[in-house]
Formats: sequence, structure tokens, C-alpha cells
Amino acid sequence: MHRTHTCGELRIAHVGEEVTLSGWVQRRRDFGAMTFIDLRDRYGITQLSFNEELDQKLNTEARSLGREFVIKVKGVVIERSNKNAHIPTGDIEIQVREFEVLNAALTPPFTIEDETDGGEEIRLKYRYLDLRRNPIQDKIILRSKLNKAVRDYLNDADFIDVETPVLIKSTPEGARDFVVPSRMNEGQYYALPQSPQTFKQLLMVSGLDKYYQIVKCFRDEDFRADRQPEFTQIDCEMSFVEREDVLSTFEGMIRSVFKKVKDIALGDIPILTYDEAIRRFGSDKPDMRFGMELIDIDEVTKGNGFGVFDNADSVVAINVAGGNAYTRKQLDELTNWVKRPQIGALGMIYCRVNEDGTYKSSVDKFFNPDQLAKWAETCQSQPNDLILVLSGDKDKVRKQMNELRLFVADQEGLRAKDQFKGCWVVDFPLVEYDEESDKWHAMHHPFTSPIPEDREYMKSDPSRVKANAYDMAINGMEVGGGSIRIHDKELQKQMFDLLGFSEEEAQEQFGFLMNAFEYGAPPHGGIAFGLDRLAAILAGTDSIRDVIAFPKNNMGRDVMIDAPAPLNADQQKELGL
Ligand code: AMO
Repeated sequence: MHRTHTCGELRIAHVGEEVTLSGWVQRRRDFGAMTFIDLRDRYGITQLSFNEELDQKLNTEARSLGREFVIKVKGVVIERSNKNAHIPTGDIEIQVREFEVLNAALTPPFTIEDETDGGEEIRLKYRYLDLRRNPIQDKIILRSKLNKAVRDYLNDADFIDVETPVLIKSTPEGARDFVVPSRMNEGQYYALPQSPQTFKQLLMVSGLDKYYQIVKCFRDEDFRADRQPEFTQIDCEMSFVEREDVLSTFEGMIRSVFKKVKDIALGDIPILTYDEAIRRFGSDKPDMRFGMELIDIDEVTKGNGFGVFDNADSVVAINVAGGNAYTRKQLDELTNWVKRPQIGALGMIYCRVNEDGTYKSSVDKFFNPDQLAKWAETCQSQPNDLILVLSGDKDKVRKQMNELRLFVADQEGLRAKDQFKGCWVVDFPLVEYDEESDKWHAMHHPFTSPIPEDREYMKSDPSRVKANAYDMAINGMEVGGGSIRIHDKELQKQMFDLLGFSEEEAQEQFGFLMNAFEYGAPPHGGIAFGLDRLAAILAGTDSIRDVIAFPKNNMGRDVMIDAPAPLNADQQKELGL
């Protein structure tokens, strides 16, 4: 028998019992007549003690055990004289009577403890060792709990788990496809799915009514902390539903997940229209843990001879509560921060709202105290606040202000990782115009229906047509998105038409779906959540890499198995490459 207990299990009540434990040597400490070893497994750490007085030979042998050796020990649980309140097993230790080395180990390339000395790249190369560390292992365990909570909820709600193919034809979701050459069909390629979108719609035509799948999706996109080339979706679809049905079902799922995984009752999840989200936060995935909303101050800033404002499309402010404490140096740093190319603002104006009712702005030359008082009034500033202002092109300035708002909130500690606030964003534009290609692009995907009232403008004024689409954001991260679909062949044709597909192109790419719609497609809609993103939020980490067992690095490489890699000549020939 390899073990009677795990390394996280024994307590004071076990004192006197003879036990067998197996695990990894995390640390060895030699003290004259005594040797101590921390034995580790997934469940915790238990101290082992070897006493020269009891068994000199055993104590000497124990000193040959190196870090990460795999051992099995037999011994008796005794009360520790020097208790460790930091670990659950800290009241006891195992007085070892015999042990066996199950496997020796090379010295690991970095220390396998909660705090490690290993850099990111080396830890990714030896990911299996990194995964021995608690902070990493905890996140993988949390992900597993999340997975179960999702499945439990959806199974209870009568969703059917269906697997869809991985070797498919591209679905146009906006990113590049990964492709796989077909040996048997030389010169032809499969694409890996960016999502199972068309398949789940076909399952609705099949009458499955409620579908879900926790499924790998593949997108050849540029790297970001919240993106991986292969990632996991909780993909869902329902028949005979309207937007409200989908929102309430999946709000329920998210609540249940937070309750089960974190024992947190998520507060209300407000529904914002896209326009409102952009107006109030400058983002379609607003972080609603805090206020500091965007305020239009054109009316109180324009026409005073300050060219920067007068010539700007839009002048936007945020009010930083208590921000008057910022030093001049901090304000200069903020200004430099918004001027970085990633943000792209030309500059930043500020106005201090002093305790004594006076103002001090960076544009005192152009604005007198009465005028600055109007800024403060518009921004509902209190004494000791700070007003930050950006100006420029309407759309750009809102985006820049969103970044500044988040940056300042980070500095002010308003984005605590253990606080969670979600929102729905609805009524996205159906299409957006792309100047480069001179074409309209679907903002979500081409199967998203317009809201019925706007359908009449699809030809005459596509930009005003809203989509019956919705996203969920939590803490400023888009965690899910979906829509009520087009289920009518004519409307689908009209949509393809708007997107500039010729009839032949549409038929070639999506003939299977449009044909299916001729055989009685029910009204349907759905959503997909990013499982990695949900796991990252629940785990309180910024990067989804931390919640993926074997992630890719920022060049899309798996540095452990060294992929991607060239094919050898035979393989290339066989594949006709
Ligand atoms: P969408 O493209 O919005 O919708 O994707 C749904 C959710 O998947 C997550 N996500 C990602 N996570 C990690 N890495 C990526 N590269 C990545 N890309 C997307 C996000 C996102 O909200 N078929 C539609 C869904 C539908 O309409 O039902 C779709 O894929 O959390």
C-alpha cells in the first residue's frame, strides 16, 4: 500500500496512529541528531522527523534525500513540540520508522514552493514542475470546480451535451483560422473551429432544443493577456427563446458558478445598452466595481479661446474622488501615460478642486475660477477632488478615457480582485463599416439577427441597425457573448447581401445552413462564455495563462513540447505541401 492518508490529512486526533504517506520531498532540514522533511502532495504538507536516538542508520539515510525525491514513509503520528499554525497539519509530525525511495529526482531548475525563483519562460518549459506549486495547482483545481458547476447547472436545466467536429470548414468569426491539410484530399484543408457556431444552430434545426458543450476553440489572433490561440468556450444554444430568456438562464448559471466556486452571492447584473456603456464608460465591457464615469464637458469648456478644446470633437472628464492628493509629479506621469502610443492621447488637462473652494488647473491661462467652478459643478466634484480631461475625436477620446479611468482606478485600489461586478451589454450595432475593405462587417457574426424594429433600415442605413446581441462583462473583462439568431432564409440572405457576399459565395460557404433553414428552423439564440476568462476572474489573476494547464507563450508557442515545429520531408510530401 502506498499510503493510508494524504499529506494534508493528519491532525492532532491522529496522534499515536501508525500511518503510511507518499509524496515529494519539498525541503530537508538537518539539525544534529534530528532530520526534518516536508513531504508534499496535492493535499498539503506533512512534516516528517527522523531521530538519531531512535534509529541512527535511518537518520543518516534520510540525509541522502534530495529535493523532489518521491518517497514512501511509514511511521507514527506524534504531537509537534514546535507547532506551525500556518498549515492545517502543523500540530503533528510523523516519526518515521522506515522509508523507501520510490524515485530519485534531478535538482529542479527552480524552487518548487509557493514563492519561486523561476522566471516565466523556464516555468513554462518545465510546466509539469510548475504545476507542482500550490498557487498554480490551486488555479487548475478551481478551474475543475468551475467546470463542474457549469455542467451541473446546465444538466439540471435540461441542456444536452453534444460534441461537434473539430475538423471543419472555416466559420467567419472575424479571426484567422488554423488550418489542417487533408492527406486524402490533396490540396484541400480543414479549418479548426473558431467556435461551433453553425453546428449549434443546426442542432436547433434538429430539435435538440437546448445544447451545450465545453469545447476547445481555435483562433489565430495576436496575443493578449486575455487571449490564447486555443481556448475553451462554454458554448450554448436554445430554441424558442427571446433575449430575456437567454439572459435569465445564463445570469442564473453565472450566479450558481460564483456561489459554488467562491461561495459568493453576485450582486445585481444591470443591463446597459451599447450606447449607454460607451457614453458612461467609453467601453462595451465596463468595469462596474466603481463609478468615476465619463462626463461630457463640451458645454462648459468650449468657446473660451482654448484651441485644444475648441477644435476638439469632444471634451470628456472624469472626477477622481480625493484626487487632489496627487502630486505634480504624479500628474505628469499620468499625462505621459496617456500620451504613450498604446493610448494615443495628445495630452491631459487637470483641474484641482481645493479644500478652500479655489481651483488650480493646468489651463488657468484660459479659464477663470468661475469657469472652472462650472467644470466642477458639471462633474459633481467635491472639495479635494481632481478632474482629469481629455479631448479629441469623439470615439477615440472615449476609448482613451476608458483606459485612463481603469488606470487611475488601479492606482486608487478600486479594482480589488476579490470583488466582482457583472453587467450585460445589449443592442450592439449589427454591422460596422471598414474603410480599408470598403465593406460592412458583422460586429458579432453574420448569423446574429437585427432587432425587429430596425430591420427596415438594413438597406437604407445599416449603421443605425441594432443587433439582437448581448455580451456579459465581469470586472471589465468580456466573459461571454451571444445573440438571437436569424432563423429565416430570406433575412439571412439579406444579411449576407449587406456583408457583400455574392449569392454564390454565400451558397458556397453557408449553403448547408441556409438549406437547413428551409426545413423548419425554430427561432433560436444562444451564447458562449470564455471558460478560461471566467476561471481567471474567479482565481483573481489577470492572465488566462495561469488557469490553463499547458498554455502557449506570447508567440503562440508551447515551449515545453516545442510546437509548432517543421514537418519532415516525407510528411510534407504525403500531405502534398
Ligand atoms: P465570441 O467570439 O464573442 O462569440 O466568443 C465568446 C467568448 O469566448 C471568449 N473568447 C476567448 N477567450 C480566450 N481566448 C480567445 N482568443 C478568445 N476569444 C473569445 C470570450 C468571448 O466572450 N459563436 C459566438 C457565440 C455565440 O454567438 O453564441 C462566439 O464565439 O470570453
